[in-house]
Amino acid sequence: TSQYEYILTSRPADGVALITLNRPKALNALCTPLFDELNKALSDFDADDSVRAMVLTGSDRAFAAGADIKEMKDKEYAEVYKGKFLESWTLLSSLRKPIIAAVSGYALGGGCELALMCDIILASPTAVFGQPEINIGVIPGGGGTQRLARVIGKSRTMELTLTGRNFSAAEAAVWGLVSRVVGPGQGEVITQAVDMASIIASKSAIAVQAGKEAVNVAYESTLNEGLRFERRLFHSLFATKDQKEGMAAFVEKRAPNWTHS
Ligand code: CAA
Repeated sequence: TSQYEYILTSRPADGVALITLNRPKALNALCTPLFDELNKALSDFDADDSVRAMVLTGSDRAFAAGADIKEMKDKEYAEVYKGKFLESWTLLSSLRKPIIAAVSGYALGGGCELALMCDIILASPTAVFGQPEINIGVIPGGGGTQRLARVIGKSRTMELTLTGRNFSAAEAAVWGLVSRVVGPGQGEVITQAVDMASIIASKSAIAVQAGKEAVNVAYESTLNEGLRFERRLFHSLFATKDQKEGMAAFVEKRAPNWTHS
């Protein structure tokens, strides 16, 4: 299915879609045409009922080396402000379906931010994360200062943003940025990400969507508001066929037959 120039798409398992960033000569630098293609693939898969989980990956050497510096270097303020430069990147964070980042090699600047917009991050031991924007006279512009601060705390985020130093997969794991390090290379991290996506795809899609929505509220509300939101969403699932089916199947000691409704 190659309607694309900068990405590849495939369906590696039932209910699972895989998107591979494919701009090897530029280490998957996220130029605007690449992001337009990524957004198209993401919205198509999000709207496709046969897809229930997605995996996003790059190459063995680079998940993505950031926004495209060659594209940005001559831009002026009026152009980026009026044109809402990078605003299209936010589509990923509005997806209903879960997306797992399988990170190998460089995930720098916008590449790190792209991984942070995914729901789960798996990394190979070779993964190198960082927000090096300070080294080119700017700061992160794709959510790095905000999302990193929420995930790894202020002191580390401040250090990384202001020094521009890279950090390893091992550090990312200790800090809770990635849920797991799997090696030795990209092949294994993709395999495990697809396996995880398959498990998610085997659940009720409506419950999965609610679970994702509820966890995301934890980053945007007080604890009390979040707990209330979770409980209301939990209540709402009692209006679904899958709640009846799931609980009946448990009692009847059989596997559930989800209708995703
Ligand atoms: N933009 C454009 N081109 C890039 C790029 C980027 N972010 N990263 C790498 N490339 C290109 C290089 O220019 C080079 O192209 P040429 O062969 O035409 O010169 C090619 O990819 C290979 O890169 P290197 O030769 O530099 O490879 P290396 O192995 O020596 O170094 C690297 C790898 C350390 C990742 C280095 O390429 C690098 O530092 N890249 C830039 C990382 C960066 O600063 N990212 C942040 C960008 S700003 C941003 O993302 C803003 C935001 O918050 C949204």
